[in-house]
Amino acid sequence: MTIVFYGPVISPTNDYDEYTVDPRCLLVVSDEGTIEWLDRDVQDSMVQQRLFEGGLSTDGIEIITLKNGEFLIPGFIDTHIHACQVPNMGIGGDKELLSWLRDYTFPLETQFGSPGFAERIYPDVVRRIIESGTTTACYYGSLHSDATKTLATIINNKGQRAFVGKCNMDHKSDGDSEYHEKSAQDSIDDTKALFKHIHHLRKSADGTPFVYPILTPRFALSCTEHLLELLKRFVEENDNPSRPLAIQTHISENMEEVEETLQIFKDCSSYAAVYQKYGLLRRGTILGHGVYLTDDEMTLIAKQGAGVAHCPTSNFYLSSGMAQVGKLLDHDVKVGLGTDVSGGYSLSMLTTIRNASNVSKMLFVNAQAAERRGEQRFHAGKRANRKLTVANLLHLATLGGAKVCNLEKQIGSLDEGKAFDALLVSVRDETGNPAVWGYNPHRDSHNANTLPDKKTLRIWLERFLFCGDDRNIRKVFVQGRLIGGKEA
Ligand code: GUN
Ligand code: FE
Repeated sequence: MTIVFYGPVISPTNDYDEYTVDPRCLLVVSDEGTIEWLDRDVQDSMVQQRLFEGGLSTDGIEIITLKNGEFLIPGFIDTHIHACQVPNMGIGGDKELLSWLRDYTFPLETQFGSPGFAERIYPDVVRRIIESGTTTACYYGSLHSDATKTLATIINNKGQRAFVGKCNMDHKSDGDSEYHEKSAQDSIDDTKALFKHIHHLRKSADGTPFVYPILTPRFALSCTEHLLELLKRFVEENDNPSRPLAIQTHISENMEEVEETLQIFKDCSSYAAVYQKYGLLRRGTILGHGVYLTDDEMTLIAKQGAGVAHCPTSNFYLSSGMAQVGKLLDHDVKVGLGTDVSGGYSLSMLTTIRNASNVSKMLFVNAQAAERRGEQRFHAGKRANRKLTVANLLHLATLGGAKVCNLEKQIGSLDEGKAFDALLVSVRDETGNPAVWGYNPHRDSHNANTLPDKKTLRIWLERFLFCGDDRNIRKVFVQGRLIGGKEA
């Protein structure tokens, strides 16, 4: 059935510094779940007439008039999350990457090899991620193909859009861990089995998949050169000119990790050069973290068309460092946001947005201090060391992520022709009253009986991004289908 929404719509645009706020939007979602048309300014007395003019009779359609305090935004795109690490969320923050992997992460991931474990854990993991407003996620599973097939099936059944991969890791990336695959060939065979499973999952009416397989070499340190050679061949054999093979991995997250990598891959001039050597740095590649990337690496990544998942919550929690988002953008690298659970301690992209803001402010303060000391200057027109604005943050969490996933033609903003992957947000809390941070009639130029003006909508968005939580996410739609939210 066609669904029609009437009310406030907020969306990023291709201009990173702008977003649209339209209080009286008429948005029509087709049977197939795409945004058929969108009129940005329709008086409420004109809604019926516009629908009639558009050839829609009122019997075949459901009209949803947004209530006071509600607005639509595109769903969040989490470009980096480890589904198998959710049971560890919020512990291990005293460690740094390599000892955290050894002491917390690998022991947990090992359990996904036990029968029934994935079935017990993953349904709630995926449900909670959807409730947090994530409509598309790039998931890392454990190294197990059966457990990761289970993850993909659950995502498919719940209706989320996703990329799902099992880790390729045939090498002990620390001295004594037993958590690695038996051989490079096993790693490839298991990957093929997972890809085959995912290719058989549900597609949309035009044949577009909801769940995509993604090649997931965990990071350079977890792969032998033999495995990297086999992965290179796998990429060559599975490439498709219309849609690049998706690949995800970690890069330059932690200083010790970078040093060890350069120690092992002696013939490579940089961390990025390792992935380049093995054909893994391409348009479909999503690189997690990128805290210590050099200018040359950023240039190479941009040239290859790969993107970076900025994971600020994790980078704080594991004391990894602060990734230079502005500098990446100055180099024309595509950037999205990732929760990186359980390096990150929250499934919500809202937490990631807040920490992305914090990182940009700390880099700004440091740069300002350096400028005062005469050590460096801000460069006009450059994004490096600038604070991220609300427009920038919204962009990174939605359209920026879509670009990183090479899905920007389909998702990431609320525009005609795109899939309706969206959140219905309310600034009222679950009692129906304005949330404590919701509109304040004394401060906001807003009358409870009328639609908000543009200024009020901008305030609502900023407050939702900084003070909101799952309770404010009333409906979660993927391809026009209601898949979650507090009112689902
Ligand atoms: N590097 C290799 N594996 C991991 C992981 O599971 N999490 C994070 N944050 N970094 C990694
Ligand atoms: Fe990660």
